[in-house]
Amino acid sequence: MGFYSDRLGRIKLSPSTAATMRARELRTQGRDIIALTIGQPDFNTPEHVKQGVMEALARNETKYPPIDGIPELREAVARKFQRENGLKYSADQVMIGTGSKQILFNAMLSTIGQGDEAIIPAPYWISYLDMVLVSDGTPVEVPCSAESGFKLTPAQLEAAITPRTKWLFINSPNNPTGAVYSRAELRALADVLLKHPQVWVLTDDVYEHLRFDGIEFATIAQVEPRLYDRTLTVNGVSKAYAMTGFRLGYAAGPKELIKNIVKLQSQSTAGVSSISQWAAVAALNGPQEFIPGYAAEYQARRDRVLDMFKDIPGLQPNYPEGAFYLFVRCGDLFGRKTPAGKVLENETDVVMHLMDHGVAVVLGAAYGMSPYFRMSIATDMKNLEEACRRMQRAVAELK
Ligand SMILES: Cc1ncc(COP(=O)(O)O)c(C=O)c1O
Repeated sequence: MGFYSDRLGRIKLSPSTAATMRARELRTQGRDIIALTIGQPDFNTPEHVKQGVMEALARNETKYPPIDGIPELREAVARKFQRENGLKYSADQVMIGTGSKQILFNAMLSTIGQGDEAIIPAPYWISYLDMVLVSDGTPVEVPCSAESGFKLTPAQLEAAITPRTKWLFINSPNNPTGAVYSRAELRALADVLLKHPQVWVLTDDVYEHLRFDGIEFATIAQVEPRLYDRTLTVNGVSKAYAMTGFRLGYAAGPKELIKNIVKLQSQSTAGVSSISQWAAVAALNGPQEFIPGYAAEYQARRDRVLDMFKDIPGLQPNYPEGAFYLFVRCGDLFGRKTPAGKVLENETDVVMHLMDHGVAVVLGAAYGMSPYFRMSIATDMKNLEEACRRMQRAVAELK
């Protein structure tokens, strides 16, 4: 019997973190690496949010905060859901967590047990899988092909549901594909869910505001009010407000579920940093007009990068409708040879070859789909153009 638990043995270090650490390591060895591995906005936190932090400090808001969040923030979140999503939640249906990641984790740990299943459409944000595994549950991966826009179809959902299904994960806009579910697509999934009352929905809306080409955002409890009583709507300030370091997420759902997730939180991290909570109050209650500006910048980068990919035969990027990633098919490079005589046999070989040319990306397998890699476009245009030039050279030298 080893010292570390079986539970720990089931999970892995987040692959995007691992890839970022590897890129850092190579940089410290003097290598010139452009890291397109991490999912965080490259913009600075807005000034009015920083102001909110200063004011909270000046008021000495530095005591233990309530476990479920300060009332001012829970009310701001309830107003946000009403204002932006037409969803009516009372403040006691809202909780604050250390990033949406902690809420997702707590939600799994407080509801999933041995034999319970959670449906995770692939490609997915890798943490979903590990959160289910660490909770002793069974993740049910459903591969969603490029042909269906990397989105779950109603027929796939119907086929994946069993009497042990507890949760369906929906993530729109999606990490890593940027796919956005339309109202009609959510409607069609909802029709399946209505037939299976044992299935709850966890909708991860953290990329809500990062959408392109004017595409609409919809969330399932809004589309089908009959699912309201079994939906946990999760969101956060990290991506929309460039506040990743504040570690602040929020969620709303049925009172009983929120109460139980908060109970678990009371025995782990307790309340989220009071200063982060006041920063989030400033973000959610403050001006929102600058956010489309961020999205427009990501869209311009997406367009430029897609344009540059036209000169990289063998790498086929998808067309993301939101978030800040490209999911690039790299299978056509298999069987080709580097000048050093190494034959590229799989996506790891491709990713290592790109790393040799100074570009770090993350394996598609980390998101449940091969042969792909994910590259983040949350870095400035100059860096992205240089990364694309390096990839052009890396592919051009293959025989
Ligand atoms: C799909 C998705 N959900 C949740 C998160 C977690 O965000 P945070 O914990 O910063 O709110 C991320 C972060 O990369 C993500 O990509």
